[in-house]
Amino acid sequence: MEFDTVIIGAGAAGMMCAAHSGGRTLVIDHAKAAGEKIRISGGGRCNFTNLDAKPENFISKNPHFCKSALKRYTQWDFIDLMAKHQIAWHEKTLGQLFCDGSAKQVVAMLLQEMQSVGAEIWLKTSVASVVRNGDTFELTLKREDTQINVSSKNLVLASGGKSIPKMGATGLAYELATQFGLELTDVRPALVPLTFSDQRYAPISGVSAPVRASANGTEFEEACLFTHRGLSGPAILQASSYWCEGDVVCLDLDPDGTLFEILRTARQEQGKRDITTILTQQYPARLVQHLSDEMQIKGRIGDQSDAALEQLCSHLRNWEQRPTGSEGYRTAEVTLGGIDTDGLSSKTMEAKAVKGLYVIGEAMGVTGWLGGYNFQWAWSSGWAAGTAI
Ligand code: FDA
Repeated sequence: MEFDTVIIGAGAAGMMCAAHSGGRTLVIDHAKAAGEKIRISGGGRCNFTNLDAKPENFISKNPHFCKSALKRYTQWDFIDLMAKHQIAWHEKTLGQLFCDGSAKQVVAMLLQEMQSVGAEIWLKTSVASVVRNGDTFELTLKREDTQINVSSKNLVLASGGKSIPKMGATGLAYELATQFGLELTDVRPALVPLTFSDQRYAPISGVSAPVRASANGTEFEEACLFTHRGLSGPAILQASSYWCEGDVVCLDLDPDGTLFEILRTARQEQGKRDITTILTQQYPARLVQHLSDEMQIKGRIGDQSDAALEQLCSHLRNWEQRPTGSEGYRTAEVTLGGIDTDGLSSKTMEAKAVKGLYVIGEAMGVTGWLGGYNFQWAWSSGWAAGTAI
């Protein structure tokens, strides 16, 4: 069977691309349903973009690569698409937009958009092989035990990264990219909880506190969640994208810098109280207990000199953690790195050296922060390739 374009992966990027590509388009996916990650994202409400999305929110070997697509298909364009389909949304926090109803509405919207341009979708279909014959890609597909040969002028790699293999993530895009001579950057799990070899935070598992978490010079002010296995919560997930094995993550437990004055005031007004009692007015009691054991915090607040209070605040502002690892692809929201952007056009996402081969979405080495940025990249890169085809 002949198509103009075959898109491998009916995820966010693949569907967006199919909705905009001209000619006869086929989208294939080995999953039972399209857009499974969209469906489960944002607790079932899909954090589909971010009001503040800008190139600085993306990690890439070439930080300029994402600029063109993000500028040409913006968060406002996607918001317009949601409006066209009458899908209600709200801003939760930090510019993060979620559906009022269900993430399934976003999947249905993309399927409708694809249908309106006549794109076909084959689910439960896997790729046995791809070869290039002149200007044509020849694919051998397996669809429910039947082998089907398909050819196309354009081939779009939209099968995502390695995160959450249980949801069908595979390294197929990387394998095909390598087959066609594209380079890969190092890949690792990102937006992922960090772990320790001991269970040091098991006693305070479930406790959450606002922090400024930094790794390798990039910091995020959000909540940190202590877990049985280590550290999680948005601040840690964000920092994990900048953290490499062996590195320190620094937690500032006084992100707004007010603790010293609070302690000095308490010294005057509540001098007879234990310093840990004062700290429980600022932090969860279980966290204070943990910190007081670790940092030897004790004594009456009234007996503390300015220097002692300064030292305590300094400890709490620079609480260094050296995780031993991460929860890995099993729970990582994204894969950091991927198909090297150096080999791709930032305007069209087409491989510079292989005419008709495109890479979009998470498969390539462009990784967004937590907060709707990864879907925005899927929409923008999918649109850029689709409109170029
Ligand atoms: P995506 O992974 O969506 O799609 C790839 C498709 O290819 C899948 O349908 C898969 O089945 C298919 N495929 C893979 N291998 C194949 C093979 N060998 N053969 C055939 N098909 C194959 N981002 C965000 O911005 N806001 C959010 O709220 C969330 N929430 C979130 C929650 C969870 C639990 C996860 C795991 C991830 C998120 N993300 C997110 C990240 C976001 O889901 C992700 O970055 C995008 O889905 C990437 O879109 P792609 O289309 O590139 O890949």
